[in-house]
Amino acid sequence: MLQTQQVNTPNDTISKITLSNGNETSIVVSNLGATLLNFKTPDKNGKLQDIVLGFDTVEEYFRNTDTYFGATIGRIANRTETASFSLDGETFQIDKNEGENNLHSGPNGYQIRIWEVESLDESSNQVTFKLDSSDGDQGYPGNLTLKITYRLTDDNQVTITYQALSDKNTPLSPTNHSYFNLNGHASGSIENHLLQLNASAFTPIKDSTSIPTGQIADVEGTPFDFRKPKTIGQDIDQPFEQLQFAGGYDHNLVLDNPNLQTAFATVIGDKSGIRLEAFTDLPGVQFYTGNFLNNHPGKAQASYGKRHGFCLETQFFPNAINVPNFPSPVLKANTPATYQTIYKVSIH
Ligand code: GLA
Repeated sequence: MLQTQQVNTPNDTISKITLSNGNETSIVVSNLGATLLNFKTPDKNGKLQDIVLGFDTVEEYFRNTDTYFGATIGRIANRTETASFSLDGETFQIDKNEGENNLHSGPNGYQIRIWEVESLDESSNQVTFKLDSSDGDQGYPGNLTLKITYRLTDDNQVTITYQALSDKNTPLSPTNHSYFNLNGHASGSIENHLLQLNASAFTPIKDSTSIPTGQIADVEGTPFDFRKPKTIGQDIDQPFEQLQFAGGYDHNLVLDNPNLQTAFATVIGDKSGIRLEAFTDLPGVQFYTGNFLNNHPGKAQASYGKRHGFCLETQFFPNAINVPNFPSPVLKANTPATYQTIYKVSIH
């Protein structure tokens, strides 16, 4: 089922769209930032839990631009070293918003854009948002049209489909920045959640700037080995330099076999029994454990503290546009591209 609500803010009218299925699962998405606002599903006791962090009002999404709760990030998610890159013999400068580097494409990111509601499709329970990002927008080349479709299926899959077309070669690595807490958004630390992740390698970072060294390192024998299930917290405070740089996990893992049929990650909420499976055809995932959350006021008077949510941000590797041995994030001119990420919930 699909319901639309219009919210008037001083300057704009924002849409909130609810998609629900016959299994009491529902999501609310907005054309402000093509954001996932709510994701509700019953826990093992049949009690509805909202499993994503966020705000009650759309104004708060405009104001709080450092958490990226539920938002779509583009054109490039994650870090770009020196906020510059070369493409086809030309050098491009983007905003320096994290020291000398760029994070999430800068202050004018896609998360604060008002996207067009291009289509609402009741029969397939989906909504498509569209953004026209002009040549030079954020400093990137090419007129880019990006469409994002959110769909909720009857078997509790939220599919996020990115469709992109540019008239020039341009880097593109969009992601969804949802913070999950499978015990419910306001239920504290995620460190006792159980995680299994099919990644045999990760991209180590140089220092606390979180810029990758360019190496692809084996997870074997490190806290980054989640190939067999373990709690998120089991090794998070190990005296391991990579973790200390970021105050926990905030690293790109290299997916063994990115595809839409086998989950790359399975996470279980220890109190709720809610299981999240994630699928993608993108090569990497930024696993972020909410290390920078600092009693952030959220939905229904919640206060989100350090490690109260985790993100699985599917993406090309951070700084890939500057690292030749990482898979290329370049979208070729006049060549449509489609990427997909799926978050599926069930009871463990
Ligand atoms: C990303 C980054 C983190 C942090 C969050 C937002 O996940 O990797 O370092 O900046 O966004 O707070």
